[in-house]
Amino acid sequence: MQLYWKAFDQLVSTDHIIDNDLNPIYHFEDQLVDGAIIDIGCGQTSPLIRYADITERRLIGIDNEPSQLVKLRSRMAEIAGADSKAWELITGDLMHSQLPNGPYAMVIMYNILHFFSLDECKEVIAKIDQHLITGSLISICVHSTKHPANDPANFDALAYFKHFFTQSDLDTLFPTNKFERLYRADIERDYERINSKVAALWAEKVITDMKIKDHRTKADIRRDATTQKSTAEIINVYRKR
Ligand SMILES: C[S@@+](CC[C@H](N)C(=O)[O-])C[C@H]1O[C@@H](n2cnc3c(N)ncnc32)[C@H](O)[C@@H]1O
Repeated sequence: MQLYWKAFDQLVSTDHIIDNDLNPIYHFEDQLVDGAIIDIGCGQTSPLIRYADITERRLIGIDNEPSQLVKLRSRMAEIAGADSKAWELITGDLMHSQLPNGPYAMVIMYNILHFFSLDECKEVIAKIDQHLITGSLISICVHSTKHPANDPANFDALAYFKHFFTQSDLDTLFPTNKFERLYRADIERDYERINSKVAALWAEKVITDMKIKDHRTKADIRRDATTQKSTAEIINVYRKR
């Protein structure tokens, strides 16, 4: 994925990331309790970019890919007007690393839980729960069962994405006796033109990096990179009781 993110970095501006952020958390800002805003699996497209400029809260980003954190820091600095050493951008694995101490006012987990099985997700939520207090918010975005890659015959996709979610899966992870659901959206959307451009550039980078000369192999790589034209996701916000 490193080459994909290089293509993304080359073509997608920080302003575009902010303008196209679908995260509903901004509607709940007036309800935030005291504590950190933490984005787990933040990548370089995190809502932390926007928060870098508008909050004095403790900001934490966690990702297992250090180059994503370097890029996220520079995007945050671009928006905030300066780098802040106080931003905690930590290389860590959601499953195996210890999480920084809370309390967390808001946990953002966008496009990360579908890389885990449902049982692994339960473990992850239990780990995060230790740092929540009454009123803490959790915003989740996952691939739904309507996602085009959810094809039981496609072993490659299932090796990559471990679970495609229903709303009921998410409600099992966040049971009503512990969490109140504040928001849910079941979204199917076509990719924007910029997504196709990033995918096309990614294909060219793969071809160059792998020194591929054969025309048919090049055509296969270009086709595979640009086949997917849409996505389907569930976005939820929960509040800890
Ligand atoms: C699809 S990107 C999502 C980035 C961002 N949250 C968004 O929605 O645009 C997934 C991110 O999760 C990170 N990631 C994948 N597995 C992880 C793990 N086990 N622990 C921490 N980060 C992980 C990847 O490096 C990548 O930056």
